[in-house]
Amino acid sequence: MNRAENFLQQKLNERIEKGLLRELTTTSFPFDFCSNDYLGFARSSILKKLINEQSKQLIDLKNGSGGSRLLSGNNKFTEETEQFIANFHDAQSGLIFNSGYDANIGILSSIPQRGDTIITDELIHASLIDGARLSHADRFKFKHNDLIDLESKLKNAKGLVYVVVESVYSMDGDIAPLKDIVKLCKIYQANLIVDEAHATGIFGDQGRGLTSQLNLENDVFARIITFGKAIGIHGAIILGSHTLRNYLINFARSFIYTTAAPLHQMVAINCAYQLLSNGSFHLQIQEKIALYNQLIEEINLPTVKSESAIQTILFSGNESARNAALQLQSKGFDVKAILSPTVAEGKERLRICLHIYNTDQEIENLVNELKSF
Ligand SMILES: Cc1ncc(COP(=O)(O)O)c(C=O)c1O
Repeated sequence: MNRAENFLQQKLNERIEKGLLRELTTTSFPFDFCSNDYLGFARSSILKKLINEQSKQLIDLKNGSGGSRLLSGNNKFTEETEQFIANFHDAQSGLIFNSGYDANIGILSSIPQRGDTIITDELIHASLIDGARLSHADRFKFKHNDLIDLESKLKNAKGLVYVVVESVYSMDGDIAPLKDIVKLCKIYQANLIVDEAHATGIFGDQGRGLTSQLNLENDVFARIITFGKAIGIHGAIILGSHTLRNYLINFARSFIYTTAAPLHQMVAINCAYQLLSNGSFHLQIQEKIALYNQLIEEINLPTVKSESAIQTILFSGNESARNAALQLQSKGFDVKAILSPTVAEGKERLRICLHIYNTDQEIENLVNELKSF
């Protein structure tokens, strides 16, 4: 082994010793309480049919886009899809990125400048943290959902100020106090960026998101909607003004320097939105969430209160969280443990995702199994 390989092995060994080695697995379990496919779109045969039909109508459906959006990778269908999605979410404009990760890197690395300030909730997703790290702006964290701490950070902020939150937090499933955050942003003239990855499809009319449910569309600077979760496909869109869209096309490096997604992905995204806007999937998932919450309240387990499709059971220590997941998996429930350092020490957990295809009986069986913890 050369020195670099030795270094890699040593780092892996450290993880093995701590029981924290990440490994890909092809094992799956019959009852899905793990994926982000909240509305079942990733597995929907109706959506598959719609995608196949609409793909056939596009004569010019190439296998690949052949280049970045600024070179050969753009087309009318993608632009129409962007506007269709922007209209659905009541935004002026939208720009599609290849993933939510790319979108978050793109917006935060390109907009806040040296002398500006980014203030983030301490629990924001890694993609937002990485985007902020790429910026030359000053960065501060505020305590999770803590308005007093946010205000103290806002008081000291310099330059143009960007507050970054998730409407639904990906590991806790709880929601941000968006109305109060908007109020503070107005007082301190800060620009609010909301990642709606886990709120899309769940909150708001037809799943337009939490910003829309609270009628805050005109109070946020930008929203990030990802397509890999409730939308069931892959990719993301940043919603905001035409100026924001034009700026990102010019300055967001994760948009500029990457090959555009192939047209069939745009067709899939477009079809998923057609399905979403013509259905009542958000009501179906809300029923499952209500059932789970009603059942879980009857047993006394440490949880984070959540009205979203993401639910948690808290443990203390990686070992106990991992064992709990193994026990559930042995009964066929696909539930994963989230360990530290991904979450704070002492807040290790089972992350349970609810889906419209989880039958009521499956949810009851899961909660019955949880009673043994
Ligand atoms: C809150 C949040 N934002 C962004 C992302 C990244 O989205 P994508 O999976 O499309 O890269 C995720 C995905 O894990 C997420 O949970």
